[in-house]
Amino acid sequence: MAALPAPTLAQANPLVGSSIQLIESLQDLSGAYPASPTFSAYQGYCWLRDGSFIADAMSAAGRFASAEAFFGWCAGVIESQAAVIGRVVEARASGLELDHAAMPPTRFTLAGDVGSDAWWDFQTDGYGTWLWALSEHVRRGGHMDPAWRDAIRLTAAFLVDTWDLPCFDWWEEHNERRHVSTLGCVVLGLERAVAEGWLPAEEATRATAAAHGARDLVAAEGMYDGRLTKWLGGTAVDGSLAALVAMGLTDDAPEVASRTLAAVRANLLVAGGVHRFTGDVFYGGGLWPLLTCFLGLAELRVGDRTNVESRLAFVESLVTADGSLPEQSDLHLLAQDHRPEWLERWGPVATPLLWSHAMYIRLAVERTAND
Ligand code: BGC
Repeated sequence: MAALPAPTLAQANPLVGSSIQLIESLQDLSGAYPASPTFSAYQGYCWLRDGSFIADAMSAAGRFASAEAFFGWCAGVIESQAAVIGRVVEARASGLELDHAAMPPTRFTLAGDVGSDAWWDFQTDGYGTWLWALSEHVRRGGHMDPAWRDAIRLTAAFLVDTWDLPCFDWWEEHNERRHVSTLGCVVLGLERAVAEGWLPAEEATRATAAAHGARDLVAAEGMYDGRLTKWLGGTAVDGSLAALVAMGLTDDAPEVASRTLAAVRANLLVAGGVHRFTGDVFYGGGLWPLLTCFLGLAELRVGDRTNVESRLAFVESLVTADGSLPEQSDLHLLAQDHRPEWLERWGPVATPLLWSHAMYIRLAVERTAND
């Protein structure tokens, strides 16, 4: 008798299956992934950052069509910014100061427009992350449409000319700073664009120089006690630094990787979940399932399997009755007093947050790959 086929991960792990279904059912026909279908401040918008990590998870779970629809959407929205990026490049070449209002946006409507709601624009990380995610997709055998080349070149040109400027971070805060997580995503995006051969020779040379410059700057000013810091010149830790380890930024520096993860665990891991940073007040500064998954992924990346089950279990413990994962949990709050102001301003915490579901999928896939 023929052996029964092994159940797929989506069948074996109900939260993986339902998360894939949720993401697929909410993905717009345009290819955009809404950050959260119901949350007032995010509704109708897709972030390059969230979307790229969601596409990476869908790709890792074998849902190539979904990931490719997203990459096609990215190519479209970035091409729509060609004139904006062209002006940024010209201004930088002539040494002009650039206002943040002159920069391409952080998020777009699902249809790919800029939208009319003001936001904390000028965040470069997502522009790097979509290149990294596309490269991950190609490396696992996914398709890259040659029509996306123009958008890739525009992205690289934008990053080459802006990587050294202060901008908002992953959490859309502190635009007076230069953030290590942002720089890391820019480095990975540029390095991958070069390694995949997506850039013509002269542009590849410029991208390589920018990536080296950013790596050197992080080594000189974005380290403390042998580990990465939240921003240049500081000593604080940020949960997003685990993502850089998970994405491979520190593959050649295992000591930096393990010290960074040790600092994330020592400073930000409470009750099984990970805080963004110690001064967080957003919704009282709770525990983020997506960061807990990034920590689990980073630990697997450095060969540490000891915690993967508890990272997954923490996220599973947060699933609501209707199968949704929140952006953050109030199991442990750093700044309880600040919670009411956010509840009043924007309503309950974003639930479901597609990025949370995606990171659970991504960690569950990686756990199985490491079996
Ligand atoms: C987070 C961002 C995220 C956005 C959409 C914000 O509250 O700080 O990292 O991209 O929500 O999910």
